[in-house]
Amino acid sequence: MDKNISIVILAAGKGSRMKSTTPKVLHKISGKPMLYYSIKEAQKISDDITVVIYHQASLVKKSMQKEFDNINFVVQNHDDYPGTGGAIMGIDFKHDRVLILNGDMPLIQESVLRDFINTNSKVVMSVIKLDNPSGYGRVKIQSDKVIKIIEQKDANEEELKIKSVNAGVYMMDKSILDAYLPKLSNNNAQKEYYVTDIIEMAVDDNLVVSPLFVKQESFKGVNSKYDLAKADEIMQDRIKKNFMQNGVIFKLPTTIYIDSDVTIEGESIIENGVTLLDGAKIINSHIKTNSVVEDSIIKNSSIGPMARIRPKSSLSDTHIGNFVEVKKSTLNGVKAGHLSYIGDATIDSGTNIGAGTITCNYDGISKHQTIIGKNVFVGSDTQLVAPIKIEDDVMIGAGSTITKDVSSGNLVLSRTPQKSIKGFFYKFFKRS
Ligand code: UD1
Ligand code: MG
Repeated sequence: MDKNISIVILAAGKGSRMKSTTPKVLHKISGKPMLYYSIKEAQKISDDITVVIYHQASLVKKSMQKEFDNINFVVQNHDDYPGTGGAIMGIDFKHDRVLILNGDMPLIQESVLRDFINTNSKVVMSVIKLDNPSGYGRVKIQSDKVIKIIEQKDANEEELKIKSVNAGVYMMDKSILDAYLPKLSNNNAQKEYYVTDIIEMAVDDNLVVSPLFVKQESFKGVNSKYDLAKADEIMQDRIKKNFMQNGVIFKLPTTIYIDSDVTIEGESIIENGVTLLDGAKIINSHIKTNSVVEDSIIKNSSIGPMARIRPKSSLSDTHIGNFVEVKKSTLNGVKAGHLSYIGDATIDSGTNIGAGTITCNYDGISKHQTIIGKNVFVGSDTQLVAPIKIEDDVMIGAGSTITKDVSSGNLVLSRTPQKSIKGFFYKFFKRS
């Protein structure tokens, strides 16, 4: 595929309306920082991506370098050249056409980015029609050409009524940037260098600036915690819709939360209230009401209702029932129907974990392993004090505390013998 377009993503702004010490573009949507999404979509159409940073630059850079390689980072000279125009000054672009995106638009998608490339014009700018245009730069359009952009803070009363607004995404030939960037001035209400002034200068020079009318959904800018939540809702809907199109059943999808790096395959059912996080992988499985699965693989299994599968677990052909917590464990062909904690364990097929079983994996200093073989019957309310190994074909009596390894074929139990005192009740309560 042709990737002969350069992309610059503006992420230097402070985002003061977020009211947070976290840089705006690192706030998360569906498990990933919002800047992640624009870079990911940009990578589908470009091999030359520059991210412009300034506020908490090293934090933003570090976080994105964890996700991507081959991204250029440029620190804006914000002191001397603040503003969206200042942000794109002095960048060395590889290709002749440059797409300018904002790092706080996590809902942008490859398909709309392609619409910019397919518009045959030296300058293309995204325009949305809004009933309430407040907060955006207004765009004056005449006979399909942009003739002026006015920032809200610079607009007069008549201009404020314009309902076509600048969505903030542009495509420009490099020659346009080379010609006009040096001419930008900060003679405006915010004392900033506006990228939008390039458009105005191009119009003055009789160049055609084409508006690209776009839907607001993909161009939603996140400026507040409210915007963040709303953008996440849209992202969640996209994630689930995609899985449904691939054959996954969802019950009450709006109550379900799924991180964007989760995979669900085959004939899976995800019930209401389920949370799937951090790269969880669900294959041909049924995840029941209010269960949480995090960074684990679930294959041919049923989980919940109200179960919690914590990171680094791998479950196959397994049934996990209500109020069972599993952590960093491998279960293959196991049943654990009720109220258990299984941590740092490896459990093999045909084994039944009775209600109330606990792997005591932590001694106050370190974590230890519990290994349970095939066909083991673990009686209810058993504590397995790790490190411990239970071989195949073992029975553990209910209520036992097991501290030593158990060999194949044995029954093991640790209980005080049962006593019965005849008539004690009647004597104690003085009833006859
Ligand atoms: C900008 C547009 C406005 C448009 C709106 C759409 C200008 C002058 N105005 O306004 O017409 O309607 O976007 O959302 O461009 N940034 C930097 N460095 C800076 C300043 C900003 O990288 O010095 C980045 C921000 O991090 C952000 C993007 O540029 O990702 C847009 O900046 P923002 O301050 O949100 O611009 P608006 O005032 O919203
Ligand atoms: Mg903005």
